[in-house]
Amino acid sequence: MTCSIAPGKVILFGEHFVVEGYPAIGLAVGLYARTCVEEGDLKIYSRQLGPIDPSSKEAKPYMRIIEEASIRYGCRDRYRIYIDSEIPVGAGMGSSAAVNVSLAHSLLETCGVEFTKEDVSRIAYLGEIMVHGKPSGVDNTLSTYGGLVYYRQGLFKRLNTSLPENTALIVADTGVKRDTGLVVREVLERYRRLGGLGKVIYEVAGRLVEEAVVAIEKGDVSRLGELMIVNHGLLFAMGASAWINDYLVHKMINNGAQGAKLSGAGRGGIVIGIARLENTGKIMEALKTEKVNVYLVKPDHEGVRSI
Ligand code: PMV
Repeated sequence: MTCSIAPGKVILFGEHFVVEGYPAIGLAVGLYARTCVEEGDLKIYSRQLGPIDPSSKEAKPYMRIIEEASIRYGCRDRYRIYIDSEIPVGAGMGSSAAVNVSLAHSLLETCGVEFTKEDVSRIAYLGEIMVHGKPSGVDNTLSTYGGLVYYRQGLFKRLNTSLPENTALIVADTGVKRDTGLVVREVLERYRRLGGLGKVIYEVAGRLVEEAVVAIEKGDVSRLGELMIVNHGLLFAMGASAWINDYLVHKMINNGAQGAKLSGAGRGGIVIGIARLENTGKIMEALKTEKVNVYLVKPDHEGVRSI
């Protein structure tokens, strides 16, 4: 049996806009999905969900990954698969991509073929299509390669710098689960309805990501925070926010964060905030009174790997 782990992620800038080919910045985080694969009959078992029927909707991404490995790499079409994940589901932390990436990796390992990370990311992306129709590919890219990444469809770049020193990235999980595919579709519908105006909003979002790269390179936390707030406003304009997201953004800023925004698909899920280290305690305490799960982000620099 071979096992692989793959990290979850947070999107710092550019979610939704990235679906239409604009850039985004994301960070792989130290929360992992672990998938083990062994030869045998076809069985899928999830530690969180129990046995998964291979003909069910949940199994579709996994079956697509097995199919691709069989067609393109001559692997078998039956394996026993064991999935375990510590990444919150439906929260915007890339749990489905991390499972798909770790599955693609351990499947190719078990199959015994030579492969690259690019192969893993590409196969996992096919699984992602089964999850939500029109994925940009940012989640599987972050989970495969790890680190702080600038991503645009067809292009990804590891940013050599990390977040400014003496700053922390805080994640607050609203606990409100949403269907990424549905939010993505509705945002795109608004984009089309808005016509030229929608295009202007997307152009601004793209420009904002380029400015965020500069702010990261300079280590300018005030600027990064301000850009996060503007990014949240653009996501709100496109219908990706919900009152709980807006509320937690305000809560973080009012308690000393330099900036905050929804992250991922939105309408629940997670809110992220950037803060100077000396302010994180106060912000986290304030969030805890809202009974939301709060984490400090620990980056993952390696991406998918065997364990
Ligand atoms: O997987 P989530 O829920 O974090 O959101 C994915 C990010 C989107 O930009 C909304 C969709 C995509 O495919 O990039």
